Amino acid sequence: MRNSSRSNVDPFIVMDVMEAARRAEEAGRHIIHMEVGQPSTGAPVAAREALAKALDHDSLGYTVALGLPALRKRIAQLYGEWYNVDLNPERVVITPGSSGAFLLSFTALFDSGDRVGIGAPGYPSYRQILHALGLTPVDIETSLDHRLQPVPQDLTGLDLAGLMVASPANPTGTMLDKPAMAALIDAAQGQGAAFISDEIYHGIEYEAKAVTALEVTDECYVINSFSKYFSMTGWRVGWMVVPEDHVRVVERIAQNMFICAPHASQVAALAAMDCREELEGNLAVYARNRALMLEGLPKAGFDRIAPPDGAFYVYADVSELTHDSRAFAQEILDEAGVAVTPGLDFDPKRGATTLRFSYARATADIEEGLTRLTAFMAARRG
Ligand SMILES: Cc1ncc(COP(=O)(O)O)c(C=O)c1O
Repeated sequence: MRNSSRSNVDPFIVMDVMEAARRAEEAGRHIIHMEVGQPSTGAPVAAREALAKALDHDSLGYTVALGLPALRKRIAQLYGEWYNVDLNPERVVITPGSSGAFLLSFTALFDSGDRVGIGAPGYPSYRQILHALGLTPVDIETSLDHRLQPVPQDLTGLDLAGLMVASPANPTGTMLDKPAMAALIDAAQGQGAAFISDEIYHGIEYEAKAVTALEVTDECYVINSFSKYFSMTGWRVGWMVVPEDHVRVVERIAQNMFICAPHASQVAALAAMDCREELEGNLAVYARNRALMLEGLPKAGFDRIAPPDGAFYVYADVSELTHDSRAFAQEILDEAGVAVTPGLDFDPKRGATTLRFSYARATADIEEGLTRLTAFMAARRG
């Protein structure tokens, strides 16, 4: 049967690494997971309890397309708590994860063929979803001088209909401070491009608080999720904040594409927002893991890294060790029993010489992983 050309998207390589790690485990090996970008903790206890209660008395049918009003209101309140931003709950749209928000935002904002700028390295699915929607992803090659984030001069002559940024970013964990965010918004709006801010790693930051684009302008789309800080990856629930005059546009698309985000997940998400103590406990684990990684990776021989401001990744330049990050990651899995992600997922051009290490797991796993990586690199040096 025929296929569309836009369905020809690249695989998410980290998923292939996860599958290789699973096969190794099936064969009886013990693998340390530094490939997956998800917490090993489950949803907060009170979130699970709230859902258990709801199951007894609620049929959990469809919600309205924009999501449970109480959840939209609670999210608006979070903007007051986190950023001192006064947000109208009517602007909050509940989505099936931030992945669902990408589909909604790209569909609401762009026409076929439109050019949308994304940072390289960056989260791979931006590129693939844009392609699958018949849009044109435009890679913006970022530099270490700018901590691998785009800067206004990168946009010159790109003729963009949109610009997507992430802060903290995946795979680098670097952030845009307020002047950097404001300058990018200015440059994007200056060429008539819609600004989309992926803020999925907000809450997981170590030195300074992450800045939301809403502190700079209301004329933007902000995307966030319960997957990371709230530790609810598999629940598939996230949100988007859009300008007031875009709510109805997005609502009509959401009604038709998804009907609604999973009702059960919305119930749990609402309760998760009041689990601050447990979530801050998870954050303390990431902070400890980050410190171990920043000390242990250079000692092992992965010394070309930029300290991440947030998220739970370290992106390492391994150009002195390999020009084939995919084969190198396989070698690390086979010989050290540590699963890591080749940079090719994040940067098709330069990713052959980079690796991403995730430290989202338990501290004992991070310690063991670093021990194994150190032994592997020592053996490699001979
Ligand atoms: C930067 C970034 N955005 C979005 C996502 C997708 O998250 P969700 O589970 O909310 O769909 C991820 C997942 O790792 C990510 O790293």
